[in-house]
Amino acid sequence: MTLDRDLLFQPVRLGSLELANRIVMAPMTRSHCPDGIPTDQIAAYYGRRAAHGVGLIITEGVLINDPAAGGYPNCPFLYGASALRGWRQVVDVVHAAGGKIVPQIWHVGEVHRLGDEPHPERPGIGPSEVRLEGKLLVHAMTMADISRVIAAYAEAARNAKESGFDGVEIHGAHGYLIDQFLWQVTNHRHDAYGGNFTNRLRFAVEVVAAVREEVGRDFPLIFRFSQWKPQDYTARLAANPAELAQLLLPLKEAGVDIFHASSRRYWEAEFTDSDLNIAGWTKQITGCPTITVGSVGLDSVSWGGANATGIEPLLQRLGRHEFDLVAVGRALLADYAWANKIREGRTTEMIPYTKASLSRLD
Ligand SMILES: Cc1cc2nc3c(=O)[nH]c(=O)nc-3n(C[C@H](O)[C@H](O)[C@H](O)COP(=O)(O)O)c2cc1C
Repeated sequence: MTLDRDLLFQPVRLGSLELANRIVMAPMTRSHCPDGIPTDQIAAYYGRRAAHGVGLIITEGVLINDPAAGGYPNCPFLYGASALRGWRQVVDVVHAAGGKIVPQIWHVGEVHRLGDEPHPERPGIGPSEVRLEGKLLVHAMTMADISRVIAAYAEAARNAKESGFDGVEIHGAHGYLIDQFLWQVTNHRHDAYGGNFTNRLRFAVEVVAAVREEVGRDFPLIFRFSQWKPQDYTARLAANPAELAQLLLPLKEAGVDIFHASSRRYWEAEFTDSDLNIAGWTKQITGCPTITVGSVGLDSVSWGGANATGIEPLLQRLGRHEFDLVAVGRALLADYAWANKIREGRTTEMIPYTKASLSRLD
């Protein structure tokens, strides 16, 4: 049976977030914001995707106001007059094109090393100390550090709201700061923020609660999480649905509206006895709307060579309400008109993703 592509293009209201369709641009770091300031080129880049049928844009990771928040060159900030002016322009361009946009707020934690921007003189900070040959690479966060960084997440969310964004996404995935607290491999603490599951979850819950408190009840709050880490694709925070519930329900309670369940391939079953993917389980467990992601629209997948032909399996899952929204990363980097080409069945006109797509910002 051929499923109707229109499933992807139905408008949806998720709490106070009203979207023209189900297609989301996945957050992707582009390293094109010198001094942390989004440029006209960045505004045009996001605006083009909104104008070509993307319902919701999640920006690249945007650094919160902490000297050790960054780990890569030319990442944007969500603080400071110049960066916020730049973001206001991005938001205006996206809104004028009929789209919605939220920033992804980000602290890289122990990924920041001496020499990294924006403060190369600082060691990283994270749940646990890291030393190499006696040299301090990552400083274990004190209680004062934890309070300061939580306040910086809240400040970033307030800045998002004041800049006209349509919500905010907290980056809790992919082995960065929040995920470093969650994952037992990177969290060796013996205080209230380490050890058992509840303690490892405490930092994430406090970040969500502080953000919610800062932005008020109606501002959409998305939380992105992942089982996998860049250094270990087989990593697991939750080995079964009961553990996933232990992870997600306190985050929902703290104020999450929408979960963005990051997986590398959307068609993979997360646990045995069901073909639900991680976004499907997340929706079933929390009752919250969810975003799925992972190799949508890619013919060959650089992360593992799996073959994802067509979007039929995606439509099947969407049609049975396994998730609500579909995030698209690399396919949308390669082709800013991807969404409209899907809608209009112009699949032969698609520009396929290649490594070269990463060096373009059109
Ligand atoms: C160039 C690039 C940059 C990325 N940067 C981020 C990021 O800043 N934050 C994030 O959560 N994920 C980031 N990701 C992961 C994507 O959001 C997405 O989860 C991943 O690419 C899988 O989706 P895809 O198969 O549709 O590309 C990045 C991916 C790529 C390719």
